[in-house]
Order: sequence, then structure tokens, then C-alpha cells
Amino acid sequence: MKVATSQIAKDADQAQAGGLRAPGLLWRLFKEQVKRPFYAVYQRRLTAKVRSWTLPHHIGIIMDGNRRYARQSGHLDVNAGHVRGAEKLLEVMRWCYEFDIPVVTVWGLSLDNFNRDASEVKGLLDLFETKFRELVHHEDVHHYQVKIRYIGSRERLPEGLQKAILAAEEATAHYHRFVLNIALAYNGREEITEAFRNYLLDQIGQGRAFEDVTKNLDCTVIEPYLYTAGLPEPDLIIRTSGEVRLGGFLMWQSAYSEYYFCNTYWPMFRKIDFLRALRSYSQRQCRMGK
Ligand code: FPP
Ligand code: MG
Repeated sequence: MKVATSQIAKDADQAQAGGLRAPGLLWRLFKEQVKRPFYAVYQRRLTAKVRSWTLPHHIGIIMDGNRRYARQSGHLDVNAGHVRGAEKLLEVMRWCYEFDIPVVTVWGLSLDNFNRDASEVKGLLDLFETKFRELVHHEDVHHYQVKIRYIGSRERLPEGLQKAILAAEEATAHYHRFVLNIALAYNGREEITEAFRNYLLDQIGQGRAFEDVTKNLDCTVIEPYLYTAGLPEPDLIIRTSGEVRLGGFLMWQSAYSEYYFCNTYWPMFRKIDFLRALRSYSQRQCRMGK
């Protein structure tokens, strides 16, 4: 029986073709192939149970570990990890369509990420532009009727990327079945500060007295000014790569979210990891009522 070539095997080929030897790469490749049939059975068993679980309506994902994945796979350029990460996003979205998870928000670039090496930042921004342009005509996006929304400080992005984002938003504005929010140049504190600023500017614009504004100030008046206005709050936030923090992702909206952290680097995130996150969420929901 021919065993399908895994991503790690492809990376091993690529690394060796480039004369590179990532430490332990062949050992990991061997382990991967040995575990493959067991994982296939485990994945089928979990998939069969999903429909009986309480599933989240909105999942937030911090896609972390692209560069460690690239280095571990023997790539000299960390942007190779980001390219794999972008492919993984489309794959994970297919799992969300399969299990009818209507809203997904992913964090692709924080404001702090602009401080990275200039060639990495350029590589990332170019990659985002290419991906947004692909989304305009992407088969999955139109088949599953996915509304693409951008969240973040748009003006911080290059003009070409801004246009690509707009094109994807316009091409999918009429869809309502699924929503994919893509956060770039995003930071939670910035979002909250901007929401307050815009609320206050609106109030001042309407000629309201300062005392009235402060008297009426509560959470409900700020929420319509957040990037996610009108969407449910994330029920579940997943972060990959073993980092256990939110780093300001959906800071306001995550007050009641469940978190799931896993060690897998984002480009290696498997359906089993995703199913485990869903199972963990479902189990916690069951306990809440007791
Ligand atoms: C975090 O890993 C990842 C990023 C900063 C970039 C994420 C981008 C993608 C997955 C592409 C998604 C594409 C679209 C269209 C949104 P890291 O760079 O922090 O890696 P490390 O933690 O190993 O250093
Ligand atoms: Mg990281």
C-alpha cells in the first residue's frame, strides 16, 4: 500500500534538495509514518462523535509557530513557514465548514510584528496580498458562502494589500453562511482605545455634554465600536505552538471565552488537534451546568 506523502516528508525532500540537514528530521519523518495509521483510526473515531458535542459558534485562532516550523524543517528563510501557515489556514477553514462553525477569527499579524526583520515583514505583507487576491475567486469561499472581513488598523498596511482586502470583502459581502475575520496589523489594546475614541468623537459630534457622556458610558455603548461589532463573542480561542497567553487577541471579546493551547506548530496543526480542541470545549460546556 502506498502511504501518502506527509507535509513533513515534503519538507524533508525540499530541505535535502537544498543540501540542508535539519537535526532529527529523518527521525521525525520515520515517527510520523509509524504513527500515521493509528492517527487515522483515532481521527475517524473523534470525527464520528463531533455531532454529539456542543460546538462553538465563533472560534478565534492565534496561528503561532510558523518560524520554528520553518527552522525545524531545515528552511533557511522563515517565510517558508508563513507560506505553509497560509495553506494550513485554508485547510482548517474546511474543517470549520464541515462542522458548521459559522464564525472564525484568525490573527495573521500583530502591530508588534512590524518590528521584525524587514525582509520577513515584506514577505508576510506580500503573502497576505497574494492570499487576499486568491480569496476573491477561491472555490471554497464561494461554495461555502464565506464573508471575508478584515479587522485591524487598515491604514498601517501597504496600499496594494489594502486594495486586495477590499476586493475580497466586496466579492463576499453578500454571503452570510460563514464569516472569516482576518486580523492584520491588529492589537487588542489598540482596538479598545480606538473604540473609545470613536465613541467619544461621535458623542461630541452630536453636541452631548461631558457629564451626560460619562453617565451613559458602559460596555454596551462601546461594543458597537469594536471591529467585531454585530458578531458573537468567541466561545473558543485556540493558540498553537505551546505559547500560553493571548497577547492581546480579542482582548475585550474574550472575557468569557474558553482557551485551548496546543504544542503543535501552526503549519503542522492536524485535524486531530482541532477535534481535541472541540472536544475539550464541549466537555467544559457540559460541566458548566453542574
Ligand atoms: C506566527 O508565527 C505567525 C505569524 C506572525 C504569521 C501568520 C500568518 C499566516 C499563518 C498566514 C495566514 C494568511 C492569511 C491570508 C491571513 P511566528 O512567526 O510567531 O513563528 P514563531 O512563533 O515560531 O516565531
Ligand atoms: Mg510566535
